[in-house]
Amino acid sequence: EKIYVGVDVGGTAIKVGICNADGQLLKTYEGPTEASKGTDTILQNIAKYAQQIVEESDYDWEKVDGIGVGIAGFLDIPNGIVKFAPNLKIENVNLKAYLEQALNKTVKVNNDANVAALGEAWGGAGKGVAHCVCYTLGTGVGGGIIIDEKIVEGFAGMAGELGHMAIVPDLEAIQCGCGKMGCLETVSSATGIIRMAKDAVERGDRTSLSQVENIMAKDVLDAAKAGDEVATRIVNRAAYYLGKSMAMLAIILNPQYFIIGGGVSKAGDFLFDQIREVFEKYTQDQAKENVKIVAATLGNNAGVVGAAGLILRG
Ligand code: BGC
Ligand code: NA
Ligand code: ZN
Repeated sequence: EKIYVGVDVGGTAIKVGICNADGQLLKTYEGPTEASKGTDTILQNIAKYAQQIVEESDYDWEKVDGIGVGIAGFLDIPNGIVKFAPNLKIENVNLKAYLEQALNKTVKVNNDANVAALGEAWGGAGKGVAHCVCYTLGTGVGGGIIIDEKIVEGFAGMAGELGHMAIVPDLEAIQCGCGKMGCLETVSSATGIIRMAKDAVERGDRTSLSQVENIMAKDVLDAAKAGDEVATRIVNRAAYYLGKSMAMLAIILNPQYFIIGGGVSKAGDFLFDQIREVFEKYTQDQAKENVKIVAATLGNNAGVVGAAGLILRG
């Protein structure tokens, strides 16, 4: 029986997993990315962890049918090239060629949020749903579009970069890590929420938020839940642009599910209800009929399962 290795490359950790042909996760391992040590170290770590997990399992390396990798950044997907990964500080690296050489296996590379979406569609919140759009709300805002059970990659691999939809009006827009103004990511990521909280405190707004130096997005969400006005405004804003982006995608793609994952999504219905309200307001009845906004269910494992799925379902 063949096995499939999935790798999820994030800014701080690289997660690897072994899946069987049913997409069942048999084993996982996590090691540091060591992004600050540079591109070579990151590449070596990916190869090392992929080998290690198989060595430490009951399976032989010969049983590995292929290795799928999800990585945060703008990609040339068919060629497996990471064109620009702001959080990993990688630019123009042929990840697929490097790994195929190092591991002597078929390697498929895709965007981290695309593979998380595939994982959720395959064995998570979107099981049995052919058309879904997935958001990951973390350091960035990731996006993955699944249509007819397949990842939509687009012409060059840029499809589904939902975090970089220029949705905030110019007058309120700030610059995104990608260099452009007003991206969804600037307001709806954990980073964006933290930035808005820091700005508010610096301006001297009256709020229960303090010690903003090490503040986390969760602190802001908790303060909003407790009724803090400044925090409420920030969370409203994050939810507003998410809901509005979904209203637009609803008439472009008409997905059945919008699946939301990532750390910020742990705020649960408190956040989801705000998003739903905006979505309701801006979406035509016919485009939202039987359409649901739901939470991701695979949590941290969506990425590795979906990455293994690149091999299985490709
Ligand atoms: C990147 C995406 C990535 C997302 C989540 C964004 O800033 O552009 O490629 O999927 O962050 O990691
Ligand atoms: Na994506
Ligand atoms: Zn951007």
